[in-house]
Amino acid sequence: MPFESHEAYFATVPADVRARLQSVRQEVQRRVPGAQACIGYNMPAFRQQRIFFYFAAFKHHIGVYPPITHDQGLIEETARYRGPKGNLSFPLKEALPLALIGKVATALAEQYAPRQAATPAVTLRPMTEADIPMLHQWLQRPHVVEWWGGEDERPTLEQTRAWYLPRVLAEEQVTPYIALLGRRPIAYAQSYVAMGCGDGWWANETDPGVRGIDQFLADPRDLGRGLGTRVVQALVQQLFSDPAVTKVQTDPAPANRRAIRCYEKAGFERVGLVDTPVSYTHLS
Ligand SMILES: CC(C)(COP(=O)(O)OP(=O)(O)OC[C@H]1O[C@@H](n2cnc3c(N)ncnc32)[C@H](O)[C@@H]1OP(=O)(O)O)[C@@H](O)C(=O)NCCC(=O)NCCS
Repeated sequence: MPFESHEAYFATVPADVRARLQSVRQEVQRRVPGAQACIGYNMPAFRQQRIFFYFAAFKHHIGVYPPITHDQGLIEETARYRGPKGNLSFPLKEALPLALIGKVATALAEQYAPRQAATPAVTLRPMTEADIPMLHQWLQRPHVVEWWGGEDERPTLEQTRAWYLPRVLAEEQVTPYIALLGRRPIAYAQSYVAMGCGDGWWANETDPGVRGIDQFLADPRDLGRGLGTRVVQALVQQLFSDPAVTKVQTDPAPANRRAIRCYEKAGFERVGLVDTPVSYTHLS
């Protein structure tokens, strides 16, 4: 029978096998943020521009396709699961090696990514003290002021130093980054441990693995060209490479349609409205 969704496929298998399929699905979403769930060859699958990962349940195993062909190290690491054509079979009588399946998903996403030789990569580096004057300049720009702190908080150089240097020095639980397009600094981004971050933020969070993120693009000419989505994806991918991280969340102002769309393109799901100290400021 033709399936229209992962859930429709999952509903046809026994509960213990369904739990395995769900954990594979969750791992792929963790490791390849922005991958879209779909059906291919009547199997649950994931696509970016192209489908890069299929998985399915059989009587004695979970199958993962297509074969990895580029990453020799991973081909060796998955040797005991590889069949003659390179497809992977994970026996139901053994524990699922989820971390390994996550690596397979990352490698397949890369293997099936369209080559964009002329487009430099978006990467993140830790922010340093030397970046503070540049950050100060960025924080004066109207498109940043509009959604980052508000008109009243257009900071002086000294305020910028006072607010951001403790983050650089890891004295706060906020980690600041500068995003680069090739070698050009294009954005400020930050991540933080949501639990216990204080001042009324995420007051009900009890999971120490949850991270919050925020960012802005520096140059107004870069807005709306897909760069913000690439920055968010790079940050999420970097955060999830730490096995302690369970979830990445963010809290754009409901009126910030561009930011919300950017997060959704990067794979975030809308959960609902949250009370934050600044949501009142944004809405007032
Ligand atoms: C939020 C931000 C990082 C997003 O980066 P970006 O490069 O502009 O975003 P992208 O181009 O990747 O995606 C924006 C999407 O929103 C859409 N969009 C733009 N303005 C919109 C609006 N007013 N309403 C709805 N959608 C809008 C764009 O069309 C695009 O979607 P599409 O690709 O489907 O067409 C960037 O806009 C920014 O720095 N804004 C100022 C600071 C800020 O708001 N920071 C976020 C605080 S939570």
